[in-house]
Amino acid sequence: MKITNICCIGAGYVGGPTMAVIAKKNPHIKVTIVDINAERIAAWNDEDVSKLPIYEPGLAEIVKETRGKNLFFSTEIDKAINASEMIFISVNTPTKTYGKGKGMAADLKYVELCARNIAEVAKSDKIVVEKSTLPVRTAQAIKSILDNTGNGVKYSILSNPEFLAEGTAIEDLLNPDRVLIGGESEDAIESLANVYGSWVSQDRILRTNVWSSELSKLTANAFLAQRISSINAISELCEKTEANVGEVARAIGMDSRIGSKFLNASIGFGGSCFQKDILNLVYIARSYGLNEVADYWEQVIILNDHQKRRFSDNLISTLYNTVSGKKIAMLGWAFKKDTNDTRESAAIYVADHLLSEQAHIAVYDPKVSEERTQLDLNYLNTRSEEENKDLVKTYSDPYEAAKDAHAIAIMTEWDEFKAFDWQKIYDGMKKPAFIFDGRNILDQKEMEAIGFEYSSIGK
Ligand code: NAD
Ligand code: UGA
Repeated sequence: MKITNICCIGAGYVGGPTMAVIAKKNPHIKVTIVDINAERIAAWNDEDVSKLPIYEPGLAEIVKETRGKNLFFSTEIDKAINASEMIFISVNTPTKTYGKGKGMAADLKYVELCARNIAEVAKSDKIVVEKSTLPVRTAQAIKSILDNTGNGVKYSILSNPEFLAEGTAIEDLLNPDRVLIGGESEDAIESLANVYGSWVSQDRILRTNVWSSELSKLTANAFLAQRISSINAISELCEKTEANVGEVARAIGMDSRIGSKFLNASIGFGGSCFQKDILNLVYIARSYGLNEVADYWEQVIILNDHQKRRFSDNLISTLYNTVSGKKIAMLGWAFKKDTNDTRESAAIYVADHLLSEQAHIAVYDPKVSEERTQLDLNYLNTRSEEENKDLVKTYSDPYEAAKDAHAIAIMTEWDEFKAFDWQKIYDGMKKPAFIFDGRNILDQKEMEAIGFEYSSIGK
């Protein structure tokens, strides 16, 4: 089938950038991204591209170039479904917060709603592409809904998981290591392969069966997260033995079988996906009675929680075992640099722990709003919204955030932090002035020469 019209349901961190790149590289295809969230769609349509709902380097330029030409953002979901030959489902699949599988399984209600919506309104044959990350064998459920509730329309289901990372989404989409397409119908697979073929060479487009494709996505995230937990586990051992985790990472990373990427010890991984996808993998393994497999992967999460906790524990014990009434400046709130996304950011959990010890927190993040910071803390339900508002202040000037602070905690590896006037920050702080570098981005010798008491991860 020659594709001329694509609909994407879900205008989020994946749907937005992915479709923008597909539109840019396929000027002959009309791409419409739809969402039930009218506010989000309005932001995507804002004249001022600095107000797009998602911050990703390079995204605004592509949206500016394609929007209104062959890229459209709309709340008219039924209309866009009907007009398209290919529909991407790119909605959120969070961890369930209720019922069976609570806290572990993926909540597939949004995906199911999309399938029912498509079945209800589609009048011509469609290729339905799973772009969301889904448990292995979800395609079967989608197919069953479409076939049993549809109007006799024929559907081909493809799995096409997304491997982009936030902060580098555009670069990842333009130069993917691979594009993965799982499916039964060769025609449908080739139709999608042609869309990517506009800019991705065919040898990088993998064709597999649906179940391998679905499972490969969960597996890729589990392996990536496992590397971080592995190096973080070693970071704790380094702190006891005077080994340096940076040197260890370099030494092992030069072994081509291990590789050098994803070996940065940190306060623990965050982001909307690693934890949710591993929990989901653990849940699936347990549901097949594979308890050893489940326990093995669960340890990646256990270690990650431990890493966040020991960061805040270390901060408290270093500050003479109390942070009560002390101002702690947190630099960074996003889960990694170059994104405004804060989902599951380690900063939220570290702040929550410090607040429970009655600390006062001053947050500076170049891309995260005060409203977002408060929402993240309120979501945990640890204390009242008024208390969070009282104890946590957000600053647009890092020097103000650090003024009179007892300690600085670096939570996100934003490049600009390295270029701060650290002498000025030191001069404004209470003494002794502590830095807890959760991202190992500052130079220890330089900081100590200024007068800071500096500690980092794994050194
Ligand atoms: P998101 O929350 O940013 O966006 C999802 C959007 O879907 C929301 O705007 C929501 O309003 C919309 N939506 C939900 N139900 C809908 C419905 N029935 N009809 C129309 N719109 C609906 O989520 P995201 O980060 O883009 O993630 C989407 C999926 O992609 C998830 O499965 C995630 O695991 C996966 N993924 C995410 C990333 C990432 O970097 N964020 C990377 C790879 C894969
Ligand atoms: C991750 C994967 O890298 C993507 O391939 C995948 O598509 C995506 O999840 C997803 O499915 O959502 P993302 O979470 O956006 O992407 O960002 P990462 O670069 O993987 O970082 C995740 C977390 O790990 C961040 O908190 C980051 O700071 C941390 N991290 C990363 C480390 O602590 N150390 C490292 O060496 C690398």
